Order: sequence, then C-alpha cells, then structure tokens
Amino acid sequence: MTKISKNDNLQGEQASDDSQRKSDHINLALHSQTLVNELDRRFYYEPMVAGFPSEPLNSIPFAGKQIKVPIWVSSMTGGHLMSGKINRNLAMACKEFGMGMGLGSCRMLLSEETYFADFDVRSILGDENPLFANLGIAQIEQMVERNETDKLRRLVASLKADGLIVHVNPLQEWVQPEGNTVHYPPSETIEKLLEKIDFKLIVKEVGQGFGPKSIQKLLKLPLTAIEFGAFGGTNFAKVEIQRSSDIKQELHRPFVNIGVSAEEMIDLINDMVLNGNKFACNQLIISGGIHNYLDGYYLTQKSLLPSIYAQASAFLKYSQGEYSVLQKFVSTQIEGFKMAQNYLTLRNPKPAL
Ligand SMILES: Cc1cc2nc3c(=O)[nH]c(=O)nc-3n(C[C@H](O)[C@H](O)[C@H](O)COP(=O)(O)O)c2cc1C
Repeated sequence: MTKISKNDNLQGEQASDDSQRKSDHINLALHSQTLVNELDRRFYYEPMVAGFPSEPLNSIPFAGKQIKVPIWVSSMTGGHLMSGKINRNLAMACKEFGMGMGLGSCRMLLSEETYFADFDVRSILGDENPLFANLGIAQIEQMVERNETDKLRRLVASLKADGLIVHVNPLQEWVQPEGNTVHYPPSETIEKLLEKIDFKLIVKEVGQGFGPKSIQKLLKLPLTAIEFGAFGGTNFAKVEIQRSSDIKQELHRPFVNIGVSAEEMIDLINDMVLNGNKFACNQLIISGGIHNYLDGYYLTQKSLLPSIYAQASAFLKYSQGEYSVLQKFVSTQIEGFKMAQNYLTLRNPKPAL
C-alpha cells in the first residue's frame, strides 16, 4: 500500500475540495442569474478601495454611554411564557456585542411584581450598555394627570434602567379591542412629563412612524432620542385589527396602510436640518422595517442627525431558542454592516451641511 504523507493527503483533500467546488459552480451557475431590475440602487459597490474589515466598528456615544455597534434592540416583550428567555437572550447579545436595549411595555410592573424577573436584565446586560424601560402614552397621560409620576421613577430605578421609552400609539389604542383613550395631544403630555422627571426619555411609535408636524414637535423636546417605529415592518395597529371582531376588522382596515416609512422620516428630518432648524433632541434610533444591515447602513449613512438603527421582529425570530442562534444572527449583522462600510457608498450621498 502506498504511504501517503500528511502533506500529500492535504493536497489530495484540497484537490477534491477544488473539484467539488468546480462541480458546484457548474451546477449552480445557471441558477445564479441576476436581474438588472432587481439591482439595489441605493449603493455603488467599490471593490477597489478596501480589504475585508479587520477593525472593530467605532464606538458611539448614546445616552451618556458608549455602544460598540450602531444597533439597538427595539422594545418587545414581557409578561408571557417566553418573555424571560427572550429578554435574557437579547440582554446577553447586548452585553457581548455592545448594543443598547429597549424593554417591552413594563405596564404590568406598575401593579404587580409577578413578571419582574422577565424584565430584570441589567445584571446580564452590564452597566456599560444602555437599557430603557417602556410604557405607553395612555398610561403616561393618566399618571401625569394624577400626579403619579413618582411611580415611573421607581419603575426605572427598580430595573436599573437608564431611562424610559414612551410609545406613542394612538392608532393602536383606537383599534385595540381593550385599548385606552388618548385624551390630550401626546406632545403636551410628554412636555409635562419632562418637567417632572430626572431620568432620560425616548419617544417612539409602534409601526406607523411620525409625520412632519409630529417630528417637529419631538425634535424640539429635550429627549435622549426619537425612535421611529416607522411604517414598513411590524405594525401594531395591524396586529390589533386582527385581534378584533369581523366587523371591526372591516371598519378599521383602511388605517392599515397609513404611516411614514423610515426613509421618508430621514428625508423629512434632513430637510429640517438643511433649513437651519436647531433641535433639543439630536439622536435618532431608526426602526420599523429594518430588514438587515444594508437597510441599517443605508439609513444611518443617509441621516444628517446622529443615528443608530434598531430591529424588533428580526431579533424576536432568533431569540426564542438557544443563545448561539441569536449570537450567529447578531455577529452576521455586524459583519455585514462592516462589509457595507468598506465596500458600499451611497449613490445619493447625504447633502453637505
Ligand atoms: C412581539 C413584539 C412586541 C412589541 N412590543 C412593544 C412594546 O411593548 N412597546 C413598544 O414600544 N413597542 C413594541 N413593539 C414594537 C417594536 O418596538 C417596533 O417598533 C416595531 O416592531 C417595528 O420594528 P420591526 O419592523 O423591526 O419589527 C413590539 C414589537 C414586536 C414584534
């Protein structure tokens, strides 16, 4: 029998790998045609200008802390069977990769302790990463009216959060079978709230985004950030409509396709910046329909205001089982973002200030 040296063996393996690869190419090439009308026209691809990314991304100041990547976990869950596991997985990913996290609505924690453990992720996330509690505008309105904002301070303190996210969701409340009434313009409620609190505040939508008048109002407030919750992704008015009776579904359906997309919101805000407006809030969290790192890269590059991007449903998909699945998802998002940063430029770069 001929003795094969280790080297010979490796060469043999290499040859069979190469041969397999060539055979794959022949089989797959005919199924790998691209179509010009499917070209992603947001970017120019520049293969001549960089090698593979080898450095970490630059850290970013956010809410008085530094995050290592421009990615935020959008508010999602608490108070059901899977919530604890999902939140702990998400917090582990934030710790490992240096991301910030918004908790899902903490409303139930205002009245009972039962589900506190689901939300109690500060020790997993680490002190260095931003963590925000979350409540809806209807509850905030009530608490401001009743002079009960001290409860908010206690909520934020008990979770060791950096502050609170208020989700402003009048449409969702209106179509929700058990929804609350929003009595006053949310901008007035938020203004009143800001006078009473000493923690950081973020305001977001839940799938419809904000139009120009709302954006103007928000940017004038001393908020830590505005999170878009834009149209184009998960839409909570749509979720609630599907939970209602047949007749209500039919009557509320016209509102399903109402909203403002993340790109439209960036365009609106950029116009305001270019028109010389000065804002009290200068930080954006671009969310709502961010499918992947390319959407995130595109929109953060396009924004004239400092911005990071956020996802909800994408994280949810990968956070319900083993942590390693979420870990792979997040590391691929970050690698993809870095590849984009090295090889892609915007075809329509943001206007110079
Ligand atoms: C399962 C789930 C639960 C959510 N719960 C909340 C919530 O409690 N509070 C909130 O502000 N937004 C909530 N959202 C909305 C998200 O934060 C986000 O604004 C919206 O899903 C759009 O992001 P996406 O398109 O990446 O999913 C939830 C989203 C999902 C998918």
